Amino acid sequence: MNVTGEAIRVEDGSLHVPSQPLIPYIEGDGIGPEISRAARAVLDAAVERAYGGARRLRWVEIYAGEKAQKRTGDLLPRETLEAIRELKVALKGPLATPVGSGHRSLNVTLRQELDLYACVRPIRHLPGVPSPLQDPQDVDFVIFRENTEDVYAGIEWESGSPEARRFAELLREHFGVEIRPDAGVGVKPISEFGTKRLVRQAIAYALRHGRKRVTLMHKGNIMKYTEGAFRKWGYEVAREEFPDQTITEEELFSQYDGKIPEGKVLINDRIADIMFQHVITPPREFDVIATPNLNGDYLSDACAAQVGGVGMAPGANLGDEVGVFEPTHGTAPDIAGKNVANPTALILSGALLLDHLGWTEAAELIPEALARTFLQKRVTGDLARLLEGADRLSTDSFAQAVIENIRALSPGEEV
Ligand code: NAI
Repeated sequence: MNVTGEAIRVEDGSLHVPSQPLIPYIEGDGIGPEISRAARAVLDAAVERAYGGARRLRWVEIYAGEKAQKRTGDLLPRETLEAIRELKVALKGPLATPVGSGHRSLNVTLRQELDLYACVRPIRHLPGVPSPLQDPQDVDFVIFRENTEDVYAGIEWESGSPEARRFAELLREHFGVEIRPDAGVGVKPISEFGTKRLVRQAIAYALRHGRKRVTLMHKGNIMKYTEGAFRKWGYEVAREEFPDQTITEEELFSQYDGKIPEGKVLINDRIADIMFQHVITPPREFDVIATPNLNGDYLSDACAAQVGGVGMAPGANLGDEVGVFEPTHGTAPDIAGKNVANPTALILSGALLLDHLGWTEAAELIPEALARTFLQKRVTGDLARLLEGADRLSTDSFAQAVIENIRALSPGEEV
């Protein structure tokens, strides 16, 4: 690694960020190299505009996916994991999961190896972006989805396998429960530890970002000891660890006349199925949503459609010390290498990275500059299709348009 810069450190749970931090990046497969180049250029421009040379990102390329395999024979080399562990963050492009070759998804492996237990997906509509909603400007919330348990624990056995049959026997003999002999079987573990660390992060995020509510989304009416327990443990974290900063819905009406007091966060809960209605009518009811894995999986993608589709939806995978920032979408093999992909999701993932570093002045310039670019109808093909009279730009030209708009903005200015 021969890039000048310093490593970010974590001490007593806080990040210490030097003025020239080393930032590892994985280009990714498919459209990865195109959007990675575009995103890094935009992030550099935002940092330059916000701090005029006093701060600078020092990019370090690390390898995963096809590029890593060509160089080392390994899809996810040890050094890549070590670099992220050591440097604390990474900006990651999408990685292809080889189908039917016995490989685990590289993305899942990365999250598990680095114990990135919270998948954070902000869902925010930017002005100028086509949306199927009537009032898309009201969409502005952040989903915290548990990343290691529930269906992501990956515990299941095929119908007819010795394990599935043995499991059915065990259920019959020890628990008096009958399942059909030809059933495939999956196990859905949700623990107190896993739930509490996720909800803790969600509440801390809400407090740090001045968000007013954390909603626990669960299917506890049906699955009491997994989804229902998620709800119970969620309330417990709030009560035990944030007693002065959180209130419940009951307290909201009995003590605060229905108005959330300044500096406090309301903790409430909603059943998973009705959430899909509420995020549409009316979306302004939500700020931060904390949820087990599968609910969050569905909700994140459905909500991405409200704000322009997966090409627009950023994400972060956060552990206690390490954060990997990546778009929601995949490698888009159908458009790879054509310089037409929309780099917005990766650019916004980079803005989350800047925010994570505490470089908020630079982070805030990015959605503003993107919004200006969309309002000017300068967009990539995926959005041009939906916007009458749009100027259809290549990935590189779109990034240049965003950079122009960053340079024209004063830090803190809003469109
Ligand atoms: P995909 O997200 O790559 O593509 C779905 C559709 O959205 C395609 O029509 C594609 O052209 C379009 N699309 C995606 N990103 C776009 C962008 N930035 N700009 C414009 N259009 C965009 O999903 P798909 O096809 O299911 O997966 C392809 C590969 O990506 C698979 O190998 C899959 O495992 C991997 N994947 C990786 C992820 C990650 O690295 N986090 C996440 C999802 C999929």
